[in-house]
Amino acid sequence: MEQKPKLAVIGGSGFEQLFSTTNHHPIETPYGLVSNLSVGVIGNREIIFLSRHGMQHTIPPHKINYRANIWALHKLNVERIISVSAVGAINQNFKICDIAVPHDFIDFTKVRFNTFYDEAPVTHIDMTVPYCPETRTVLREKLQKTGLNVWDKAVLLCTEGPRFETPAEIEMFRRLGCDLVGMTGVPEAVLARELEICYASVCYVSNMAAGSQQAISPLETVENSKHVSKRLGQALIDAISALPMERNCPCSNSLKDARFR
Ligand code: HPA
Repeated sequence: MEQKPKLAVIGGSGFEQLFSTTNHHPIETPYGLVSNLSVGVIGNREIIFLSRHGMQHTIPPHKINYRANIWALHKLNVERIISVSAVGAINQNFKICDIAVPHDFIDFTKVRFNTFYDEAPVTHIDMTVPYCPETRTVLREKLQKTGLNVWDKAVLLCTEGPRFETPAEIEMFRRLGCDLVGMTGVPEAVLARELEICYASVCYVSNMAAGSQQAISPLETVENSKHVSKRLGQALIDAISALPMERNCPCSNSLKDARFR
């Protein structure tokens, strides 16, 4: 592929086939082969679509090769990533089928490879503004036109999974200030920042978190995604077309002050 793709969408549970892209491109990376990538055209832009759990949902959240995925997108000249994922609502003001564009996250993952910088030069990436502000602004604007209930801020908690949480864990996370819970937001956002790629997340509430409903099943995720996927897909198409080709955010300079000299 020549220089073009600058934008990628990573689709999560219920959004494995968000865009009908067909042209599959297995990509070699130092972290392994990425085969769940395809290329499509939206408006006048070529985009990469990556199905986070595989096209047939065969990869559990703790086994996703996050480093290979983000490296592959970097290799394909991707400068912006829009992540779509299903989440549970910890904050009771959020309701099933609501959409949120998180502004911050808390990391409760345990056993994931969470950096590209395991060796010198020692690199400490700044996460003061964890998600790309420019991408978030455009996403919020387009999502607000869908008629869906959109939250323009949320703190997203990432757990290790693959099990769902206990009610006591959710109560603790609520007291810590978390609004939403998912299993894939970290290290994806961190790895993108480490390669100076813009990253923003669109979360859709597939269930109320543990303790607020009788039981949680992944089937709900798929079922409820049907209610939002059309409008969400259209908002993403509109956002992709509206995002400026050249970036006007600090993400492209993330490594500038991240190392000792
Ligand atoms: N917990 C963790 N991850 C999730 C949930 C949840 O309740 N719903 C969708 N992804």
